[in-house]
Amino acid sequence: MALENIYILGIESSCDDTAASVIHNGNVLSNVIANQKIHEAYGGVVPELASRAHQQNIVPVVDQAIKIANINKKDLHAVAFTRGPGLMGSLLVGTSFAKSLAYGLDIPLIEVNHMQAHILAHFINEADYNKPPFPFLAMTISGGHTQIVKVSDYFKMDVIGETIDDAVGEAYDKSGKILGLGYPAGPEIDKRAKLGNPKAYKFTKPKVDGLDFSFSGLKTAILYFIQNETKRNPNFIEENLNDICASIQYTIIGILIDKLKLASKQTGINHIAIGGGVSANSGIRQALKDGEQKFGWTTYIPKFEYTTDNAAMIAIVGYLKYLNNDFAKNEVTASARLKI
Ligand code: KG4
Ligand code: ZN
Repeated sequence: MALENIYILGIESSCDDTAASVIHNGNVLSNVIANQKIHEAYGGVVPELASRAHQQNIVPVVDQAIKIANINKKDLHAVAFTRGPGLMGSLLVGTSFAKSLAYGLDIPLIEVNHMQAHILAHFINEADYNKPPFPFLAMTISGGHTQIVKVSDYFKMDVIGETIDDAVGEAYDKSGKILGLGYPAGPEIDKRAKLGNPKAYKFTKPKVDGLDFSFSGLKTAILYFIQNETKRNPNFIEENLNDICASIQYTIIGILIDKLKLASKQTGINHIAIGGGVSANSGIRQALKDGEQKFGWTTYIPKFEYTTDNAAMIAIVGYLKYLNNDFAKNEVTASARLKI
């Protein structure tokens, strides 16, 4: 089979974004996302509402991705989809749709692990972007996961550290909830953090051995801190919001960088990549860049559109698997707790 002109459609529906992308030989031709606004009113993703919204969005989103790519669906070589991890109802919509489309077009189906995709997004062809060499360390930070992964090859990944409770994105979102910010709170805290003093308030870092993380204690510390302060001054949050956000962000970045330093020391690997929604965070991106000077790292920071959930990262994994003839069976099912 000639491998010069491969068009892959990627479909992502693991949480609250319905996304589709077409990739041609590793180059992104389209990357369409329908965000589900409905969850904002509930302060978090409501699984049943998410799967219903996916059902409404999936046809127009895939249609648009194919149109923007300026191809015909008959040009596609394979359909890649997120098999897991994620919300079962949401995954089912993407999985069933991808299966039927591949079946209808009589082309292969490729299953993708969402967390692997956050890492392999670094292999999308982009001008002026160096891809990480193997082995490298990838820290995946999202609303559902916080992991440090040793990546020895495209599909040879070992999780060497992970959260024992909340994910770092949850720490952002739960802190935001305490502060009365909307969902998801990460971007808002990030924006405000730039305007505040990161050392205004001190939150203790959790003590977790080795390369594992813990974020639930931080959330509780913030809750008690806010309860105490607002008892004394009911306007405490409004008057100090930027400083509070900056101090929370400073603490979170400290936790992440400390673990990365340890992981780099233990493995002897200095090539460090980040991925996942929280890698959109300006403070984390800067701290990683600073690590080049401070710790001798070479860092790999994805473009913004490939940090939060997107389908280009699913399509690139589809392309890499296509080259390996790694196809899914027709009986493949969604898997909410799929591991790397
Ligand atoms: O990867 P993602 O889009 O979805 C999951 O797979 O979870 O990550 C979503 C998470 C949310 O918790 C959101 O608050 C966080 O990423 N996030 C951020 C930023 N942008 C998104 N957190 C901190 N700073 C940001 N700029
Ligand atoms: Zn994600």
